[in-house]
Amino acid sequence: MLFGLAAPLAFLSLTAIAFGWEFTLFFTLGASSVVLTIGLAARVWLKKTLPPKQEGTVAFFHPEASGGGGGERVLWVAVQALQKAQPNVKIVVFSASKYSSQQLLESAADRFNISITASIQVVQLAHGDYVSPGRYPRFTLLGQAIGSVRLAYEGLHQLRPELFIDTSGWAFTYPMCRLSGVRVACYVHYPTVSTDMLQRVRQRKSLYNNSNRVADSRPASWVKLLYYYVFAWFYSMAGACANVVMVNSSWTARHIRQLWWKLEEPHRVFPPCLTADLQRLPLDRKLKHLYLVSVAQFRPEKDHPLQLQAYAEARRWAQANPQDRSSEAILASRLKLVGSSRNAGDEAAISDLRRLAAQLGIADTVDFHVNVSFSELRMLLGNAVAGLHTMVDEHFGISVVEYMAAGVVPIAHDSAGPKEDIVQMEAGKGGYNITGYLCSTLEQYSSAIIEALSLDHTSRLKIAAAARRKALEFSDERFCREFLEAVQPILPSL
Ligand SMILES: *[C@@H]1O[C@H](CO)[C@@H](O)[C@H](O)[C@H]1NC(C)=O
Ligand SMILES: *[C@@H]1O[C@H](CO)[C@@H](O)[C@H](O)[C@H]1NC(C)=O
Ligand SMILES: *[C@@H]1O[C@H](CO)[C@@H](O)[C@H](O)[C@H]1NC(C)=O
Ligand SMILES: *[C@@H]1O[C@H](CO)[C@@H](O)[C@H](O)[C@H]1NC(C)=O
Ligand SMILES: *[C@@H]1O[C@H](CO)[C@@H](O)[C@H](O)[C@H]1NC(C)=O
Repeated sequence: MLFGLAAPLAFLSLTAIAFGWEFTLFFTLGASSVVLTIGLAARVWLKKTLPPKQEGTVAFFHPEASGGGGGERVLWVAVQALQKAQPNVKIVVFSASKYSSQQLLESAADRFNISITASIQVVQLAHGDYVSPGRYPRFTLLGQAIGSVRLAYEGLHQLRPELFIDTSGWAFTYPMCRLSGVRVACYVHYPTVSTDMLQRVRQRKSLYNNSNRVADSRPASWVKLLYYYVFAWFYSMAGACANVVMVNSSWTARHIRQLWWKLEEPHRVFPPCLTADLQRLPLDRKLKHLYLVSVAQFRPEKDHPLQLQAYAEARRWAQANPQDRSSEAILASRLKLVGSSRNAGDEAAISDLRRLAAQLGIADTVDFHVNVSFSELRMLLGNAVAGLHTMVDEHFGISVVEYMAAGVVPIAHDSAGPKEDIVQMEAGKGGYNITGYLCSTLEQYSSAIIEALSLDHTSRLKIAAAARRKALEFSDERFCREFLEAVQPILPSL
């Protein structure tokens, strides 16, 4: 919120210093009247060119509606929830895929096991490429932003709904919707501009698409910084046009709060994770052969080496303390790394990990389960004691939720998603229950591993049960309830 105000204030102070306050005053008045005139003209033009508003209609704006990612799952679960709660509302999806409504529903059923029974209407957008990043080799953000407005206009031109729900984060479309008299709700997975990004350009780091040439040259860096700031400011204003803002995590909430010029707190609605099946695994396990699991892709940021080191450290401790009653269990345990290998890079990462395990002397107690099916994964989770997660600053951590749903005690990194949203204590009248362990150093990880492997049956069951209850917060039911609560005030009244 601060940013929306601070940026123009800073700009005005600079002009006041450079050109005096009279100039600044006239400039401000002039600029405001230009903006007002443009706004009014746009409103008149939109009302004239767009078809009459269809009362009782809700449109979901999701150009990639036929995709199979988490964003699409959010879309279909939301459509289903809305249909169940308000059967009289007519639902439309603005989609840039070539699929008909029948095909879209079939693909949702295939990919996500979501059956949408009542009919929906699909408004096809012919120019999906307007928002594809490949179309704009330079000024990608700006290009996509303008593209998204053109795309949304294409949709509104075919059908003007009463409520527009954006589920793919195209914030620049909101002012146009509001100007044409359409209410707006949005579900933000990820801010288009983040304060981290601004900082990176400011520090002239060459990361992501801040190419080296720009990072090396000072004036180019300034121009780029200015571009980002101006862009971020417009983004902040556009976002403020939404009537209801939902975000998928505390991390996203923090960024949106910092950036968008909006007084109300965004609604934090966790995305629906598919955990119902894992929730059915028995909690009370006959754990003869204790093992830890780690479910993650074999990518460097997941930091598998830390897991191997911590596990090796725990075993070393057990060897050094044979008299301790938990040592036997630790020495008999195994570590199972589960993940998919999609390319030669992953393959190489796996060989590196095998080599590291050999160096640490734990090669014969570490198993690799590569490319396992869902039913194998389910079985592996169903018999594990604890699950490892070592990625720093992961915005969420679906694997941690899966551990918890499956009754596996999580040992997760003490940052971002796991810390803020997932591995939280269950507090109540009678005190609190922990739902897992949060660690950041090697020592913390190895002592958490020792502790988890030496839990007695009752204590383990208690943590696992609390973890499983916590994981319910990420269920489809919870998503539907909170999504409906958030949009209720602006739904068409029928
Ligand atoms: C699909 O969903 C139905 C009910 O919504 C459920 O009974 C069934 O078990 C699900 N199938 C799978 C494979 O998850
Ligand atoms: C929110 O969405 C972003 C982008 O898709 C994703 O990286 C993050 O994990 C999501 N957070 C949650 C809680 O699902
Ligand atoms: C932009 O980032 C993508 C993915 O990180 C990368 O493939 C592409 O080469 C980058 N482009 C530039 C100009 O750095
Ligand atoms: C895993 O699957 C990928 C393709 O999906 C394949 O290239 C790779 O060889 C497989 N690896 C193993 C160990 O099965
Ligand atoms: C802690 O867990 C126990 C049993 O699993 C449960 O009865 C109790 O209500 C939980 N305490 C809190 C504060 O939720």
